[in-house]
Amino acid sequence: MSAPALEITELRKTYDNGVEALKSVSLSVNPGDFFALLGPNGAGKSTLIGVVSSLVNASAGSVKVFGVDIAKERSAAMRLLGLVPQEINFNMFETPFDILVNYAGFYGMPRAQALVRAEEELKAAQLWGKARVMSRTLSGGMKRRLMIARAMMTKPRLLILDEPTAGVDIEIRRGMWKTLKEVNAAGTTVILTTHYLEEAESLCRNLAIIDRGQIIEQGPMKMLLSKLDVEGFVLDIDGQLPGVLPQLEGIKLEASDDHTIQLEMPRSRDLNGVFAALDAAGIRVRSMRTQSNRLEELFVRLTGDNNKNPITAGAGA
Ligand SMILES: Nc1ncnc2c1ncn2[C@@H]1O[C@H](COP(=O)(O)OP(=O)(O)O)[C@@H](O)[C@H]1O
Ligand SMILES: [Mg+2]
Repeated sequence: MSAPALEITELRKTYDNGVEALKSVSLSVNPGDFFALLGPNGAGKSTLIGVVSSLVNASAGSVKVFGVDIAKERSAAMRLLGLVPQEINFNMFETPFDILVNYAGFYGMPRAQALVRAEEELKAAQLWGKARVMSRTLSGGMKRRLMIARAMMTKPRLLILDEPTAGVDIEIRRGMWKTLKEVNAAGTTVILTTHYLEEAESLCRNLAIIDRGQIIEQGPMKMLLSKLDVEGFVLDIDGQLPGVLPQLEGIKLEASDDHTIQLEMPRSRDLNGVFAALDAAGIRVRSMRTQSNRLEELFVRLTGDNNKNPITAGAGA
């Protein structure tokens, strides 16, 4: 068994101002995976990425990259990892070619090799035609792709991207998704953070959902979507409930006390059948309310106004 590409155990981060950005976060990402860390603004995504890439000191817990502990063997761990930060941070007055070559030099790559690698990566990012222009003149999408090409210079086994598409329009996003799929298909483990459900859905096999510094769900994308497909209700009943509730295929009916029923059912089913069965059993429903779980609440926040306009959504972040 090979070590996980990333293994985070009971990670905590409390900033100096007392904000608990991470509250005992544990997660594991398999080699070769395409993994999303999905959560709303302020959830702790950048803090987690910051700790993994050694830019932020953890308050407690451990992080291993392919089995290498970042606290014990920092530089060995960092060599395995490529980072694309949330903000564009290259020098706008350098050319893409120089940005890549200088970056590789910083990581100790011989210059002759760096020149070859820069050409390869600029071609992979479809930026070879722009290799010698001032980076300032690149379009927003090209700048983002340049950030990826730079991180790929050292051939990291794990590529981590913090909101790579926040604030860019849908065309650019699709272009970046294609680039990232290619990187992953070539064998690199990819982890990205996002506050776009759509992005996680189109790219990732597995994901963790983080909210207020805590992982609230973790697993295959498919599993999470099927969980969201279930609707919950609370029914208040007139009088006392009978000992046994009606049985309905694919629907969960449970008494939570003498006059309340918890109902869970797929969104595709309608309520009439449930009410008919309750009525036949002599159970009269006085009132009903929907019951949303934390996951649903989170998705409402993720897909709310903030997410409708991708051009402005990330602008202030
Ligand atoms: N350097 C910092 N000092 C104090 N608090 C911070 C700092 N960075 C982030 N925070 C706080 O930590 C929480 C998580 O932030 P962040 O990790 O940036 O979330 P996300 O990337 O999911 O939007 C937020 O409440 C944020 O205000
Ligand atoms: Mg962030």
